Amino acid sequence: MNYRHAYHAGGFSDCLKQAVLFWLLGALLKKPRPFSMLDTHAGAGGYDLAAPEAVRTGEWQGGIGRLMDDPPVPLAAYVALVRAAGCFPGSCLLARSVMRPADRLVCCELHPEDSAALKRRFAGDRQVAVHHRDGYAALKALLPPDPRRGLVLIDPPYEEPGEFSRVAAGLETAYARFRGGVLAAWYPIKHRAPVRDFHIALCESGMRDIVAAEFFLREPTDPTRLNGAGMVVIHPPFEFEPAARAILDSLSERLGTGEPGGGAALVRLVDE
Ligand SMILES: C[S@@+](CC[C@H](N)C(=O)[O-])C[C@H]1O[C@@H](n2cnc3c(N)ncnc32)[C@H](O)[C@@H]1O
Repeated sequence: MNYRHAYHAGGFSDCLKQAVLFWLLGALLKKPRPFSMLDTHAGAGGYDLAAPEAVRTGEWQGGIGRLMDDPPVPLAAYVALVRAAGCFPGSCLLARSVMRPADRLVCCELHPEDSAALKRRFAGDRQVAVHHRDGYAALKALLPPDPRRGLVLIDPPYEEPGEFSRVAAGLETAYARFRGGVLAAWYPIKHRAPVRDFHIALCESGMRDIVAAEFFLREPTDPTRLNGAGMVVIHPPFEFEPAARAILDSLSERLGTGEPGGGAALVRLVDE
C-alpha cells in the first residue's frame, strides 16, 4: 500500500472526478427521497495543499489551483464548496458536505493511516460509516445500500496490475446488487490500450446505459505519464451528458496545456 492520495489531491484528474461527482450528487439531491453513497476507495477525507506531500508534486497547481479564481459557470458551485471546506475535500468529504440529514455515506479505505484519519474525521457522525476494509469486497457485502437509492464511487489507485479488470468486475457486482444505482468509476489514461480494453469489457458485460467522460492533457502516448483521466458513469441521471460536456469544456479551457492531443471526449459506450 504505497499509494497516498495526499501527493495527488487537487490535480487535474481529481478536478474531473470531483466535478462529475458533485454534479451526480446534485442530481440525487433534486429528489426528496434520501440517498446513500458507497465510496469504495475513500482516501483520507481531506487534504492540506500546503502539506509537504502536496508541495512536493505541486499537482494541485495544474488543477484546482487554476479553478479557484473566477471559476467557469459549470464549475462554480463545485469550486465554492472546495473554498468553503477549509482543506481540499476528498470524494467522501465532498459528498458529506452536501448530504441532508437522512442521507447516508459508507466509506471503505484499506490504508491504515488514511482509514484512521477517516475514522477520526467522521467520529460521532451518525450519517457516516467508515470501514477499514477492501472496497471491492464491500461491493458484495454492503450493497444494496439503505436507503436503496444513490451512488457508488470506485476510485482505486491503479498501482497494481489488473486494476482495470477489478474495476470492471466491481461495476458488474454493483450493477447486479444495486439495480438502478448510479455507478461511477475513475480511471487514469496513460496510454490508450488499457482504456480501450476497459471500455470493451464494459460494452461486453451486458450492463446498459454507460457513458465515459474523458479529459486529456496531451495525446496518451507516453505510458509513464498521467496524460489524461476518465470517469465512467453507469445509469447517469437525466441530463448528465450535456452537463458532463459543459464540465469537460470548462476543464479544457482552464486546465488545458495546449499540448498536441489535449482536450476532452464524451463517449456513450452502451445505450439505455
Ligand atoms: C485514488 S485514492 C482515493 C481518493 C479518494 N476517492 C478521493 O477522491 O479523495 C485510492 C485510495 O484507495 C486506497 N485503497 C487501495 N486499495 C484499496 C482497496 N482494495 N480497498 C479500499 N481502499 C483501497 C488507497 O489507500 C487510497 O487511499
